[in-house]
Amino acid sequence: MTKELIVRFSGEKDCQASIGESLLDVALRNDIDLDHACGAVCACSTCHVRVESGLDCLNESSEDEEDQLDTARDLGLDSRLGCQAVIERVPESGVIEVRIPEWNVNLAREAH
Ligand code: FES
Repeated sequence: MTKELIVRFSGEKDCQASIGESLLDVALRNDIDLDHACGAVCACSTCHVRVESGLDCLNESSEDEEDQLDTARDLGLDSRLGCQAVIERVPESGVIEVRIPEWNVNLAREAH
């Protein structure tokens, strides 16, 4: 039986997800305002998220992603670019917890 996979955004919204989807894919499919200025080609850092649990269930970040992340605000060891972070396996808990940094949420609100 396939285990259910949930991505929980900012401790609030639980979204069904599938292996092979990026965190940005999951957010957009669920109407979560995650900015993605470059169109998901790893050329900005607006889709920056913090992966608070389940980080080891995502693909490895590339050098390009690391370079872009260096320009992001609120950077931490659990930082990823939402468009580059692809789910590779289901965590034991079934839940990947993702926090969208406050500044990003605010930017998204201002833009709409
Ligand atoms: S949308 Fe630009 S790097 Fe993810």
